[in-house]
This record gives sequence, structure tokens and C-alpha cells, in this order.
Amino acid sequence: MSQQVRAVVAMSKGAPVSLETIVVPDPGPGEALVKIEACGVCHTDLHYREGGISDDFPFLLGHEAAGVVEAVGEGVTDVAPGDFVILNWRAVCGQCRACLRGRPWYCFDTHNARQKMTLADGTELSPALGIGAFAEKTLVAAGQCTKVDPAAPAAAAGLLGCGVMAGLGAAINTGKVGRGDTVAVIGCGGVGAAAIAGSRLAGAAKIVAVDIDDRKLATATKLGATHTVNSRQADAVDAVRELTGGFGADVVIDAVGRPETYRQAFYARDLAGTVVLVGVPTPEMKLELPLLDVFGRGGALKSSWYGDCLPSRDFPMLIDLYLQGRLDLDAFVTETIALDDVEKAFERMHHGDVLRSVVVL
Ligand SMILES: NC(=O)c1ccc[n+]([C@@H]2O[C@H](COP(=O)([O-])OP(=O)(O)OC[C@H]3O[C@@H](n4cnc5c(N)ncnc54)[C@H](O)[C@@H]3O)[C@@H](O)[C@H]2O)c1
Ligand SMILES: [Zn+2]
Ligand SMILES: [Zn+2]
Repeated sequence: MSQQVRAVVAMSKGAPVSLETIVVPDPGPGEALVKIEACGVCHTDLHYREGGISDDFPFLLGHEAAGVVEAVGEGVTDVAPGDFVILNWRAVCGQCRACLRGRPWYCFDTHNARQKMTLADGTELSPALGIGAFAEKTLVAAGQCTKVDPAAPAAAAGLLGCGVMAGLGAAINTGKVGRGDTVAVIGCGGVGAAAIAGSRLAGAAKIVAVDIDDRKLATATKLGATHTVNSRQADAVDAVRELTGGFGADVVIDAVGRPETYRQAFYARDLAGTVVLVGVPTPEMKLELPLLDVFGRGGALKSSWYGDCLPSRDFPMLIDLYLQGRLDLDAFVTETIALDDVEKAFERMHHGDVLRSVVVL
């Protein structure tokens, strides 16, 4: 059995996305069928459309989503029909070398649905990050569904499925920001703004937001930045050092992912401090640094995938903090849009007009 639903598909490289009818199979063993309620538009969806991730067109886009489980396949015990869930792209396997060493947030063999969703003519779809949630319904591995408190609105909850979790986790999990730390965040889009919110949650004493766009610095302040630097007008490294007693910050998070921002992060950090790279570079980018500085400054240079999150541990906790008013997820939702507005949302994202556009179904 299967059903037909409407979904946003990138049919070929660089072409605008289109609304298509897709065929979603009933869940098989270990799978879950989820009725999508909201799905944020992430930069990665645009990368897929542009062919920057792979050539496996057509892509079923969307991967920052929350919804309600409609049906589950054989052997699924963690979630049941009616559960309100956030979809994740880290359904841990429990058996790879990372999982076996008790570090499941690095799982190297994460699960997705085994059955394929298709176009009406039978062409197999590649779901973005194994999710594909710009759709009325999608099929995932049951482990990709994390149950959270249904009191949270879907538009806010779904954001934890990708970018906002990546930023929060870059600060809390990867950077291990703690009470009294000084933090600088370079790039204050959805991911960087979340790193700022995460640093505030973790008790950072000073949080310096760095961006080239004053609109982003304004939202950064709303989410917890204590100081802002427009790096078009001032030298980012000098400014962060000045604001931290001349030393640099304990943790600097690069949420842009370019050689120049990484170099700023590297030198805006105090001795023995930590750099976290969460922005995603492109294949042609290269970095050159004096090796003696890498050695002499000590500390840690880390990268953060998905904020080193463990969905089962982090999503319910962050939703609880949201419901207590301690984490303002609503501040990330610039606009809510319909399924057929995704292409326009890409445009606005490209111009830096939004933190997040969220499709609400
Ligand atoms: N590591 C992960 O798991 C993960 C997950 C999701 C997204 N990402 C990546 O994080 C990055 C940020 O994503 P986003 O959704 O926040 O994007 P975004 O486009 O919303 O934000 C980028 C921000 O960086 C600013 N910026 C650009 N160039 C700059 C510069 N030279 N100096 C300072 N600021 C600059 C822009 O003004 C903007 O505010 C992207 O590379 C995205 O692919 C990583
Ligand atoms: Zn694993
Ligand atoms: Zn994403």
C-alpha cells in the first residue's frame, strides 16, 4: 500500500523547485510515516538544489521538521501513531565504532527509511538528509523521530531538527561553553544566532556577536549577545580582544565557514581557547596558518556536525527549556509560508532577509 501527497522537489540542477505529487509507501519494519506540520528552510536545501551536495536528482527537499506520527512499521516500539515528533538526521545505529565506545553523537552509520519514496511515474526520490519534509507526509526510519512535548508549536519545534540545533550544540556540546566563559560568534544567521542563545543558556559572561549585516546583529542582541561588532566597519580580531581585556574569547564559533572567518576565529581566541567550526566550507576553500601559532596558542580546534547533538537527549530537554521561556525558538521564525513558497524563501535567504522561513502545513 502507498499514498500520494504533495511535496517540493528539485527536479534538476539549478532549476527552480516545483510542487509535485509523490508516492509514499506504508511504513515497513523499523520505519515511520509522519504527517508533517512544519518544516524550516535551511541553506542546505538550497545547496541540494544547486547540485552542491550530490547529483542524485530528483531531491525531495526539507529536513528541519516537526509533525505527528501517522503509522509505524513492524518492530517499532519507541514511537507510536499520534506522537508529536521532531525529525532528526542522526538516528544512531548503536553498533558502529563510535556508538560502541559510548559516543553515539558521532554515530558513523545513521539510519534512514529503507523503502524509497517516488514521483508518480516511479522515479526514485533522494530525500534531503534522509528526511524530505517539504511534503504533506514523509517516510523515515523510526529512530529519526524524537518525541517531544506536544505543547510546543511545530514551527518552533521543527527548527531543532537542523540549523538551530547545530548552533546551540556548537556552543553547548562541542565548544563546552560554561558559566563565566567569554564567547565570540562569527556569522549570526540562524546557526550563529542559535550559538549565541546556547552560550547564554550555558551561562557565558560575555557574548560578542560578529556579522557584516546590522540586521543580524540586532537579532543577535535579542538572543543574548552582550556586544556586537560589524566586521565590515571594524577589525573583528581587534574588537573581540578589546572586549575581552585584551586577551580574546575562551570560545570562538565560526558559523560562516570561510578561510577569512576561520582565521579571525583562530586569532580572536584567548590562549588555550577553543575554536568551533560549524559553518560549512566549499570544496575549493583552503586555509593557511603559521603552524607555530597553532602549536603556541594551545587549546582546541574543533568542528561541529549537527552540534554534536544526541536527539533523544537534546530535543526533549531544549523543548522543555523553550516551554519554560528560557530558550526563545520563536525568535528564529521570521515568517511562516506555504509549501509552494519555498523558491521565494530561497531568494529571501540569499539576500539575508530572514533567519528562518518556515513552511507550515
Ligand atoms: N555543521 C552543521 O551541522 C550545520 C548545520 C546547518 C547549517 N550549517 C552551516 O552553517 C552556516 C550558517 O548557516 P545559516 O543558516 O546561519 O546561514 P545564514 O546565511 O542564515 O547566515 C550566515 C550569516 O553569516 C554572515 N556572514 C557572511 N559572511 C560573513 C563574514 N565574512 N563575516 C561575518 N559574517 C558573515 C551573514 O551576514 C549571515 O548573517 C552555513 O554554512 C550552513 O551550511 C552547518
Ligand atoms: Zn553508530
Ligand atoms: Zn539544515
